[in-house]
Amino acid sequence: MKEFVLEKFAEIFGDNKGAEVYFVPGRVNLIGEHIDYNGGRVFPCALTIGTYGVARKREDNKLRFYSVNYGTLGIIESTIENLKLEEEAHWTNYPKGVMWAFGEKGFQISCGMDLLLYGNIPTGSGLSSSASVEILTGFILRDLFCFDLTNEDLALIGQFSENQFNGLNCGIMDQFAVAMGKKDHAIFLDTEKLTYEYVPVQLENARLVIACSNKKRELTDSKYNERRNECEVALEEIKQVIGINTLCDLNEELFEMYKVMIKDEDRCKRAKHVVSENQRTIQAVEALKKNDIELFGQLMNASHISLRDDYEVTGEELDTLVEEAWKVEGVIGSRMTGAGFGGCTVSIVREDAIDSFIEKVGTAYKEKIGYAADFYVVEVGDGPVIL
Ligand code: GLA
Repeated sequence: MKEFVLEKFAEIFGDNKGAEVYFVPGRVNLIGEHIDYNGGRVFPCALTIGTYGVARKREDNKLRFYSVNYGTLGIIESTIENLKLEEEAHWTNYPKGVMWAFGEKGFQISCGMDLLLYGNIPTGSGLSSSASVEILTGFILRDLFCFDLTNEDLALIGQFSENQFNGLNCGIMDQFAVAMGKKDHAIFLDTEKLTYEYVPVQLENARLVIACSNKKRELTDSKYNERRNECEVALEEIKQVIGINTLCDLNEELFEMYKVMIKDEDRCKRAKHVVSENQRTIQAVEALKKNDIELFGQLMNASHISLRDDYEVTGEELDTLVEEAWKVEGVIGSRMTGAGFGGCTVSIVREDAIDSFIEKVGTAYKEKIGYAADFYVVEVGDGPVIL
């Protein structure tokens, strides 16, 4: 891949002398959904698929961006003085956002650069292609300008830029997972304290399979921000009677006691998901540590049901993929992953059942939804690297 992206860089920008090659992964969240902005525990892992970047400093202030995936857009130009969100800037709003965020945090970028990207994460799949691009940009800036920043800092700057520049009020999970990934481990992250633990993902004779719904992501961002608001209001309501900082400070028992404070039925369901999902994640990690993959799988299934019925972020496509997966012999657990509304599911499937899983779920999906899903057997990979 290194040769491929270097060649592309030379083709687009004239030559590749002095250009460096970087890789930053995508991520999949195994369990702990929609709770990273509610102080909960999440359990994502980095993947071996991700975004490759080739970068080289310039002597002027120009920024020249090129994406092999969006080749038809050609080179998109900007300058380091003009870091504004612009519709016509397309995908470059992500790297531009991170460059802007560096400036806001006191890390001045002193010259322009040429940047070529190539990603092998299916786009819009919910496997964090945007967080991958954000962390890649931060990783490149740190390297080119010798900034004294840790990978955790890069995650926080990435989230800051997505919140403040791109306008999605996301939590820290994606940027953290991508920046801090470790081969064959998932990250048990406390999103309130930002403490974490690496837990081995040993699935014995089973594998992680991603099913991509290929549903066009519409309204995802506005729905996402809407859910976040609902949680904030529910927290304020409960805070009138008990001193908590986040919804995940409650366990299910306490939630049952205080839920009367939530004055809207939907909002109450949202909060119920949050509280129960946090508890499920804690239990799931304990199960994995004890090698109890069956229990881990059951908790994944319960997570999906809660996201479907209480948080209402699944939709027909994701529900079909998951419900069909549950019917297949050899499927240990299956759930939607990421923000939802479209995007992907993640399943733990026994190796000898993978072919029939893809065949059965794929056929049923196409019949019901009218277009095909894509399937990927994935590996858990490391965080950012210079190649
Ligand atoms: C998106 C956001 C994350 C997280 C998930 C849902 O991926 O970027 O911060 O909230 O949705 O768990």
